Amino acid sequence: MRRAKITIVGAGNVGATCAHWCAAGELGDVVLLDIPRTEDMPRGKALDLMQASPIMGFDSNIVGTTDYADTADSDVIVVTAGLPRKPGMSRDDLLATNAKIVTSVAEEIKATSPNAVIIVVSNPLDAMVQQMFKVTGFEPAKVIGQAGVLDTARYRTFLAMELGVSVEDISALLMGGHGDTMVPIPSCTSVGGIPVTQLISKERLDEIVDRTRKGGAEIVSLLKTGSAYYAPAAACAQMVEAIVKDKKRVIPVAAYCESEYGVGGYYVGVPVVLGSGGVERIIELSLTDEETKAFQNSVDAVKSLVSTMDGLLAE
Ligand code: NAI
Ligand code: 2OP
Repeated sequence: MRRAKITIVGAGNVGATCAHWCAAGELGDVVLLDIPRTEDMPRGKALDLMQASPIMGFDSNIVGTTDYADTADSDVIVVTAGLPRKPGMSRDDLLATNAKIVTSVAEEIKATSPNAVIIVVSNPLDAMVQQMFKVTGFEPAKVIGQAGVLDTARYRTFLAMELGVSVEDISALLMGGHGDTMVPIPSCTSVGGIPVTQLISKERLDEIVDRTRKGGAEIVSLLKTGSAYYAPAAACAQMVEAIVKDKKRVIPVAAYCESEYGVGGYYVGVPVVLGSGGVERIIELSLTDEETKAFQNSVDAVKSLVSTMDGLLAE
């Protein structure tokens, strides 16, 4: 029996930190890939991380490369390749640039790891995962996007800070796209089993949701030189773990919804059962009228993003 093979495409902040969490958690052997222009950088990060293993006590082979041959037959591939938004860059600039990057990555993965489960992280997430699915032609269960685990973790962090309780006791669910339109589901948010609505007023809960919606921007404004990476990378590692250990975790991911929630063939954040086959089941909740309206609004935003991307790629 061999260890799981985990490839991370993009050895920048999120990619390298994800490699760190995956190796430290002994989730498998890790291949860290970046573009040839970065020369030896992925090799340097991989070797540095390997040299942490005797100290931290983990066994994982970590390889840095710029050659997809080294990634062949990966079990899981995390795609972080692409630019974070920089000053002076429009949303469409980022969309067009990253869509081209994700297209080229998808072609390479299709040729070298046809059986992998792919976790897309590159932004704008909901469009990038759709493009990955389209170009690879992989079954929808095996192409998923990371956003919900991160957004929910931010929400859980803020709720724990508000109540002065352990983060471990907060269970929560956010649905919809990764961005301003994410949809909190208060009926699925609890603190040690107690509904959150019994502990926090609606007004305060709305403020916490608002901070969560802007959670990515808050980190950017503090860091100034890039976007968040510790929590995003931890979120990816949790998804990798669910797949390589076939844990069947119930977590929100960007999943391809056809008939589910009446979405009609787009990727959107929904609760799923995540195991070795990728998305093993999408869980359909009954939503209140207010939640349904907010979810539909989020789906419309995703559709509009995908349509803009398709237009930019066709130019
Ligand atoms: P970064 O700039 O630190 O790293 C990106 C890496 O991708 C660079 O090393 C770059 O050389 C590499 N790259 C570019 N084109 C490539 C290609 N064709 N093949 C392989 N590698 C390529 O950026 P960071 O902070 O790691 O973010 C990466 C992406 O993840 C961004 O688009 C960011 O917006 C997104 N992101 C998404 C989150 C989510 O929740 N979905 C959370 C955090 C970041
Ligand atoms: C975040 O939410 C930038 O999508 C990234 O931090």
